[in-house]
Amino acid sequence: MAGRALRPSRHLSLNPPLRRDDKVPVRSIRFASLLVLAAGIPWLGAQPPDRSPRVPSAVLTVDARKPGAAINPAMWGVFFEDINFAADGGLWAELVKNRSFEFPNRLQGWFEVRRKHARGTMTIQDEKPAIPENPHYLRLQSQAPDEGYGVGNEGFRGMGVKAGEALRLTLWARRGAAPVLLRATLRGAENRILAGGQVRVDSPVWAHFELQLDPAATDPGGRLELTLEGPGQVDLDAVSLMPVAAKHGFRPDLMRLLADMKPGFVRFPGGCVVEGHDLANRYQWKQTVGPVDARRPMPNRWLDNLAGEGRFAADYQQSFQLGFFEFFQLCADLGAEPLPVLSCGMACQFETGEMVPLDRLEPFIQDALDLIEFANGAPSSRWGKLRAAMGHAAPFGLKFLAVGNEQWGPEYLDRFSRFEQAIKAKHPQIQIIGSAGPWMGGADFDTLWAGLRARKADLVDEHYYAPPAWFFNNAHRYDAYPRTGPKVFAGEYAAHPARPAPGAPRPNSWEAALSEAAFMTGLERNADVVRLASYAPLLASVDAWQWSPNLIWFDSLQSAPTPSYWVQHLFSGNRASRVLPVELALAPSATATAGLYTTAALDEATREVVLKVVNAGHRPSDLAVRLQGFQSLAGKGRLTVLSAGLADENPVGAPPKVAPATSEVDIPGPEFTRTLPPQSLTILRLPLVKEIP
Ligand code: AHR
Repeated sequence: MAGRALRPSRHLSLNPPLRRDDKVPVRSIRFASLLVLAAGIPWLGAQPPDRSPRVPSAVLTVDARKPGAAINPAMWGVFFEDINFAADGGLWAELVKNRSFEFPNRLQGWFEVRRKHARGTMTIQDEKPAIPENPHYLRLQSQAPDEGYGVGNEGFRGMGVKAGEALRLTLWARRGAAPVLLRATLRGAENRILAGGQVRVDSPVWAHFELQLDPAATDPGGRLELTLEGPGQVDLDAVSLMPVAAKHGFRPDLMRLLADMKPGFVRFPGGCVVEGHDLANRYQWKQTVGPVDARRPMPNRWLDNLAGEGRFAADYQQSFQLGFFEFFQLCADLGAEPLPVLSCGMACQFETGEMVPLDRLEPFIQDALDLIEFANGAPSSRWGKLRAAMGHAAPFGLKFLAVGNEQWGPEYLDRFSRFEQAIKAKHPQIQIIGSAGPWMGGADFDTLWAGLRARKADLVDEHYYAPPAWFFNNAHRYDAYPRTGPKVFAGEYAAHPARPAPGAPRPNSWEAALSEAAFMTGLERNADVVRLASYAPLLASVDAWQWSPNLIWFDSLQSAPTPSYWVQHLFSGNRASRVLPVELALAPSATATAGLYTTAALDEATREVVLKVVNAGHRPSDLAVRLQGFQSLAGKGRLTVLSAGLADENPVGAPPKVAPATSEVDIPGPEFTRTLPPQSLTILRLPLVKEIP
């Protein structure tokens, strides 16, 4: 029967309205009560599909005449942190690791190349450097070149090289006593040559070189070799290999996935990387802007703190090629609001907890004020001038600033006050975000909320990482939140299923994603309270991860949207402008429908009602929809269904098991029924035509 298929065909009819005698007696429950009921029946996890006879189970009434709270158009965003090699080796498309020879192990990522009987030396030098801020460079001396003496770079767990996708090699070089020929070769498995070219280095002073390499074959484990063709000496620094197609430096496939999500904002650059192990290791935005070659790398905070998972990654440094200018550019490219997080002078409280004394907090506050000028100031201002010199004369339009990441205690509230007063005095339009700490409730959480309310924070950033059951059972969390005072920023959340084995990543399963969808219906229904929300973390390398689950996994060549990605994608892609009141009536015997979670909203721009319904039950559910206030609908609606087995995942390199199916549907009128597949998210866009006078 149409409408019951898990994957609807391209054109479907919705079930006709329930006939009067179809109706079973119902209990009328306003949506808030429904969710309390849903919460009262704990989520039981995976169960086999129930094939027992079905009953019409629920009636959903939506009053389209009474649009309520405005939904923030930027509500659904993303949270980018340099964790799991998300920046270098991830979104930042650079293929060369340790390109400036500034890692603590100066030769990390590099290896000697001796073709046939070649002999020579490779040494690290710092005399008369090309880049004074990053003074180390590599000196190659070839005594017996044979088929080539030189150096190779392994990339980030291999360089992803694609046939026909041109790469741009750039480097600084200077010759020794005589000019030399420097050969660049891209090699793949079994030493196969994928691309090559050469440059003549004839300058005794540092000069910049550029060469295009055109790979003839695809290889996930490519490496770059730079070899001397004859005897002689060359100094090399700031070696870079980037896909020509990487606009503004971003890896195209990952950028496409992000752009497709239409994120309303990007929270960056973390997370714990903002705080650092100690204050010296905190993220300092000023060290990430200006000429790329002059940015000094720093050990990544996730290098050795693996939160009980992932692998030790001695090569995990932050090159800051993806720095604050690039983050703002990323936001501009995505059409998303920038939402930077700054250190509040407190290092990670799970680690050193180092704190700058209050009487020495001023430079931290100045960093925040300068950042606002960097983003929004006129090109004539000190920091606006730097932004313009970097290629963006127009302001980036910064509206939000988060003070600290996961902080707690009275020390945080004291520091927050100082930031808040200084920022609001100069930039009253900036919305300041305070931290509710790392917990989802409890005494510290309550104290932070009370303190931030008293200090008039604009938004409070809440984080939740919990099993799927928590998300199902907390779909009502915000129904009872105060309607005045600071708004909520659900800044980091993800359902964390159990690990299948010790050390294995937690699965990015459909069960996890479904529970997030149920929770997100509660965020949207409470859009007057919850203004912003972002899943966490965003990106992860399958070869070098420290945290799971994540929204998008990738290897050197491919990327895979997880089931959670699709949930975010569908909520973000089906945003509307005003919340609509919904009421759900359940059949008295319909315990199964307690697994229904719903939100309805009006898209004033397109004049559509947008329904989002999660059926968390393990059997289909017949939902009768009653749209009040409109005589007729346009006849055609848009239906999107996301449904799968609870354990299904979308691993990198395998055909996806979880993907949305969208189709056009005939809508018989303002009353119809829809069969919701078991364990599904259904989104219906219903075009309104004629209002009842
Ligand atoms: O998202 C991963 C980490 O989780 C973030 O860095 C931190 O804010 C939280 O504890």
